[in-house]
Amino acid sequence: MERPYIICHMLTSLDGKIIGDYLNEERAAYFIDQYEKIHDHYGCKAWICGRVTMEEHFTLGHKLNLKQDNIPTIPRTDYVAEKDAKTYVIAVDPSGKLGWTENSIAPWNEYRSEDHIVEVLTEQVSDAYLAHLKNIGISYIFGGKESLNFTVIVEKLKNLFSIDELMVEGGGFLNGSFLNEGLIDELSLVLVPIADGASNSVTLFETSSYLNNPKPVNFYLKAIEKLDDGGLWLKYVTKRD
Ligand SMILES: NC(=O)c1ccc[n+]([C@@H]2O[C@H](COP(=O)([O-])OP(=O)(O)OC[C@H]3O[C@@H](n4cnc5c(N)ncnc54)[C@H](OP(=O)(O)O)[C@@H]3O)[C@@H](O)[C@H]2O)c1
Repeated sequence: MERPYIICHMLTSLDGKIIGDYLNEERAAYFIDQYEKIHDHYGCKAWICGRVTMEEHFTLGHKLNLKQDNIPTIPRTDYVAEKDAKTYVIAVDPSGKLGWTENSIAPWNEYRSEDHIVEVLTEQVSDAYLAHLKNIGISYIFGGKESLNFTVIVEKLKNLFSIDELMVEGGGFLNGSFLNEGLIDELSLVLVPIADGASNSVTLFETSSYLNNPKPVNFYLKAIEKLDDGGLWLKYVTKRD
């Protein structure tokens, strides 16, 4: 089966943290802007994030108050609300927690476009949540009965939405899921010259109970670019040329 080419695009501190107080330092703003600019530079048709990232940045913790009674059973089959959107944002939300109220994310800076939302769910999601997604025109696909299989997910993204290039944009648990299934072709890393210093914040690749046997993954340097103020943009691939 065919799948998209997959680029993991992230920004980290020198100690590999993807969140933390270092992002509030004055110097960090320039690197965050570079991160967004590089996203645009790749020009991929879709980007994907985990539920925690989506909640923090886009649904802002909004909870839906869905009627659970008298909802007919909805078959667990994929639903394509927009086949020809210019760009897509994919939200990995296994049990349907994200409180979307619209079917797209509006551009929030000059580098982002309006992206049609595609939810990635397991079959455990409620009928009420599926009815809500259909009602507001959000597409959804199933990635497994109880747990997610990302190989199946990316094949569906290619087949149903013609996504040839996908950007994986965090957080650490989502990145770790892709790494674990050997699904990262390229790593685009904006390295911020600040050490966060905290030992309890999320790193570039994390593992959780839903991942089996994490193994080291080799990366090979493809390009390196100096950014202003001592930062670096590193590009690595997982297959040698
Ligand atoms: N520095 C950067 O470039 C960058 C980029 C993006 C995000 N971030 C930051 O990263 C932080 C969040 O990262 P995070 O790692 O905690 O969360 P995350 O990866 O955004 O989301 C994790 C959640 O996604 C779902 N998920 C991911 N992989 C799964 C799998 N294999 N099976 C089932 N469910 C899976 C689960 O949702 P449920 O809990 O609903 O089951 C899981 O709790 C945020 O603070 C955000 O700002 C930084």
